[in-house]
Amino acid sequence: MGNTCDTVLDAIGETPMVSLRAFGSTVTPQLFAKLECTNPGGSMKDRAARGMIEWAEREHQLQPGARIVVCTSGNMGVGMAMVCAVKGYQLMCLVDAKINPATERCLRVLGAEVIKVYQRDETGGYHLTRLARLESLLEEHPDAVYLDQYDSPAAVEAHSASTGPEILRALRGEVRAVVMVAGTGGSSMGVARYFKSESPQTDIWLVDENGSLALPGNAGAAPRHLNGMGTSISPANYAPPEFHKFIDHVVYINAEESIRAAIALARSEGILVGGSGGAAVHVMRDLAAQHYGPEDNLVALLPDHGSRYTETQFDPDWLAARGINVPEIFNVEDEA
Ligand SMILES: Cc1ncc(COP(=O)(O)O)c(C=O)c1O
Repeated sequence: MGNTCDTVLDAIGETPMVSLRAFGSTVTPQLFAKLECTNPGGSMKDRAARGMIEWAEREHQLQPGARIVVCTSGNMGVGMAMVCAVKGYQLMCLVDAKINPATERCLRVLGAEVIKVYQRDETGGYHLTRLARLESLLEEHPDAVYLDQYDSPAAVEAHSASTGPEILRALRGEVRAVVMVAGTGGSSMGVARYFKSESPQTDIWLVDENGSLALPGNAGAAPRHLNGMGTSISPANYAPPEFHKFIDHVVYINAEESIRAAIALARSEGILVGGSGGAAVHVMRDLAAQHYGPEDNLVALLPDHGSRYTETQFDPDWLAARGINVPEIFNVEDEA
């Protein structure tokens, strides 16, 4: 007899780890993917969303109907909208023009109010424009509780308490390296913190998109194309000295390599993930070839499902408009 959940929130976590035998057939280490798309809101952000709202409940004694504000490029909003629907809170999601149309519709279906900014800031991203709008929004709604995912010990803690232990348990303590992507820092800093405490011999690799300002030592702002990955500010979650204590290596990647890897993963393993997941598996396979051997288990954390990106990263016109060269997006028949 199977288990039942009291609410959908009990279905968050315990995501599968899948061996990538075909994708990793050219390298000797064992490659594994942790599929965060199987969370009920469709991404690893469900974990952080639940953790942050439960923190707000403790800190602000939220009553039913309480108003919560979050700045999000998509997945965090979906996770929070799901949690708010279950708990009876009102969610205002501050998003930007880069949001996937499908994600925006999901937010609305889940009952969130979507507030969108269209103007790029001086870094070429939207974050600073969103912050300006946030200020006016909080003036309009003084009762609202703002949850800042860029500076959230609760988000880091959620991943430290769940994602990290799940990875180590699945491989019975034998994890040579974990590869994660950089965004607000909740997932990577949480998982890394857990590993540095429980398995300090595990190498922690962090992947960011070229042009992102997320990590200490970045090379400056430039246009970026991947959703969820990279930021136009430095999140407090990545502040030194913790950053240098928890993260061993940083690798930068571009959208083209990431999207091509996501397509290669889909076609070799049947695993359809977004471009940030493509970035993680691409780097994991490179590292496997250069740094690790047949005894080593490597794990990549894949943030979300690829079906959200059919109108963006997997759309030939969207790619062409941005000069991103992904010839395999066309099927053989299309080319004929
Ligand atoms: C698709 C995707 N990839 C990567 C990330 C980065 O995760 P984090 O914010 O935990 O650093 C996110 C976060 O929103 C995401 O939605």
